[in-house]
Amino acid sequence: PNFVEYDLFTFLIVSPIFFGINVLFDSLFFIFIVIYKCIPLNCESNKIRMEKQIISTLLRWYKTNKRVLPWRVLNKNKLPDPYYVFVSEYMLQQTTVPTVKKRFKEFIKTWSTLKHLAKTSEPKILKFWSGLGYYSRARNLLKAAKIIDTKFSCKIPNKYEDLITLPGIGDYTAKAIIGIAFNQSVMPLDANIERIFARLYAFNKPLTKIKNQLHERSQCFRSKNNTSNLIQSFMDYGSLICTPRNPNCAICKIQKYCLGYEKKIQNTIPVKFKKQKLKPKKYTRAYVLMNEKKEILVRTRSSTGMLAAMLEVPNDNWVVKKSLMEKDKLVRSIAEQPQSIGSLVYSFSHFDLKAEVFYLKVNKKNFPNQKWLNISKYSNSQLPTIMKKIVEVTV
Ligand code: ADE
Repeated sequence: PNFVEYDLFTFLIVSPIFFGINVLFDSLFFIFIVIYKCIPLNCESNKIRMEKQIISTLLRWYKTNKRVLPWRVLNKNKLPDPYYVFVSEYMLQQTTVPTVKKRFKEFIKTWSTLKHLAKTSEPKILKFWSGLGYYSRARNLLKAAKIIDTKFSCKIPNKYEDLITLPGIGDYTAKAIIGIAFNQSVMPLDANIERIFARLYAFNKPLTKIKNQLHERSQCFRSKNNTSNLIQSFMDYGSLICTPRNPNCAICKIQKYCLGYEKKIQNTIPVKFKKQKLKPKKYTRAYVLMNEKKEILVRTRSSTGMLAAMLEVPNDNWVVKKSLMEKDKLVRSIAEQPQSIGSLVYSFSHFDLKAEVFYLKVNKKNFPNQKWLNISKYSNSQLPTIMKKIVEVTV
C-alpha cells in the first residue's frame, strides 16, 4: 500500500487495539483501587507504613532493652523453649513478672521437663504453688501436662486448635504460646499490649467496650517471621515505658505515632469503667479454713450492718486503720498460724475494702457446731461476692 493507504490502515486497525488496551488497563486500575479501598484495615497486605515503622522501632528497642527472664532462654532455633513458655504463661496469668521470675527457676529445678511434670501428683504441685494463690492454675497446669503427655506425645502442641482444648488455656494463652514459642504470626492481647494499642489509636473508652477495635488493630501488628520477639517487645514496652500510670512519653520511641499523646489523653487511657471517686479505704483479714473433706468453714453474719445475715468466711473487723484491726475470735483460738496467700480490693458503694487472705488446713473435729461448705460448691453458694472473691484466691 502507498503511504496514505498505510496510514489509514494503521489508524483503522492499530488504534482500536491501543484504545482497547488502554481501556483494559484503566478498568483494571479502577478495579484495583476499589478492591484496595474495600480491604479491611486488618489485612496483612494493607498494613500501613505507621504500623510497619512501629514494629521495626519496637524490635530495635527490644534488642537492647528486653527484660532478662528465665523462660526466655533461647534454644538453637533462636526461640524460647516451648515447655518454659507453657509453664510461665500459667504462672503469669494472675501473678506479676517479678514474683514469677523468682519462682520459675525453682519450678524448672523440680520438674525440668513436661514428662517429669506429667508424672507428679496434685498435692505436690499445690504445695509448690503455695504463696502464688489462684491454685486452679496449678491444677489445670498439671491436668494439661498429663493430656499433652498422653495425647500429644509429650510435645507442647503448636496448633491453636489443640492448645485451646487444654484446661486453663484460653484465647490469650494459646496465642502467646504459638507466638512466643513457635513464632507463628499472631498478636495475643494482654493488658500491656491492649494499653499500647488503646493509646496509639486514642481509643478513650473502657477496654471492654473496645475489644473489637483492639483486635482489628492488632492484626496490623502481626509479624511474618519475627513474631516471638515482636510480642515480647510489646509486653516489655508496656511494662517499662508505656506503663499503666505515668507513661514515660518523654523517652518513648513511638511517641510521634501516638494519637493519645497528640491529644494529650494518654494518661486517661485505658479509660476506667466508672469515674474513679476517691473512696475511703477499709481493711480486713479473711481466713479460709479448709478441713480434710475439702470443706471450708462458713458462718452467718450479724443481722445488722453490711451484708447482714449473709454467709461469710471468718474475718477480722473492718477498720479504717490497719492498727485498729482485731483478730477474729474463732481464729484467735486456733494454735496454728494461717498462711497469707494474697490480697484483694473489693469496691463497695461507699468504700473500698482491702482484704488480706489467709489459708489454713484444719481438722473438722476441732470445730464442732460449725457450718461447712464444700469447696467445689462455693461459686454457686449463698456466699456474697466479696466472700467468693476471697475464697477464689485460695482455690
Ligand atoms: N506476661 C505474660 N506473658 C509474658 C511474657 N512471656 N513475658 C513477659 N510478661 C508476660
